[in-house]
Amino acid sequence: MNITPLVAGNWKMHKTPSDGKSFVSEAINLLLDIEYISVIFSPPFTGLFDMDVSPPFFKAAQNCHWQDLGAFTGEISVPMVKDCGASYVILGHSERRHIFGEMDREINRKVHAVLNGGLKPILCIGETLEDRKAQKTADVLRKQLIEGLSNLTSVNNIIIAYEPVWAIGTGITAEEDQIKSAHTIIREILFGNFKDIDSLPIIYGGSVKSSNAGTLIQIDGVNGFLIGSGSLDLTSFISIVNCVEQYQMRK
Ligand code: PGA
Repeated sequence: MNITPLVAGNWKMHKTPSDGKSFVSEAINLLLDIEYISVIFSPPFTGLFDMDVSPPFFKAAQNCHWQDLGAFTGEISVPMVKDCGASYVILGHSERRHIFGEMDREINRKVHAVLNGGLKPILCIGETLEDRKAQKTADVLRKQLIEGLSNLTSVNNIIIAYEPVWAIGTGITAEEDQIKSAHTIIREILFGNFKDIDSLPIIYGGSVKSSNAGTLIQIDGVNGFLIGSGSLDLTSFISIVNCVEQYQMRK
């Protein structure tokens, strides 16, 4: 099965709506030839509305609530981000889990809400350094996958982002064999539960930069990237996108 690679920039709490808008229009101008991959911009909620993209460029929200509406001060729902033209929603990012205390159960509700709303969840999973040192990586990934995807019979429209927590924002990228083995574990876990995993994109995140993207994209089972700081600078983001595009074109 051919999986279209994804390169997603997660801006976190960076860029005002006007900064984001000009960044995206400049980026698209520099990436007019992109043909083989999908490129996703994930601004803060405030930047989602007034930002023009069309395939192969897409917009993602960085989070959402699982209810469509209601008395949830400060929250944003799937119909709201959909109305802004978002196609994807990042869920369960390690900062949501570790700073804001999100649990797998809530993340699972959000996965269902996003799918029911016709959007695609990018479900982030990953072990902490403690987990890895205690050789619990596979257990942690299993729990996050099984609970995060609970009550689903298909992984159609889902993207998994493997992001080891210790590699996020630290400048430390996971070793090639660590990434390869985690991606294999993820596929094995899902293989037992879902019939359609052949078409499931599994992307890597954690200190992806223009200097390592070319190597990382060649790792077996890596179908693209979720990029934090490397997606904020135009030159860096463009160069990562081009790396993945060229790799896919040659394949
Ligand atoms: P980073 O962040 O690229 O800055 O490590 C990745 C992420 O948080 O998705």
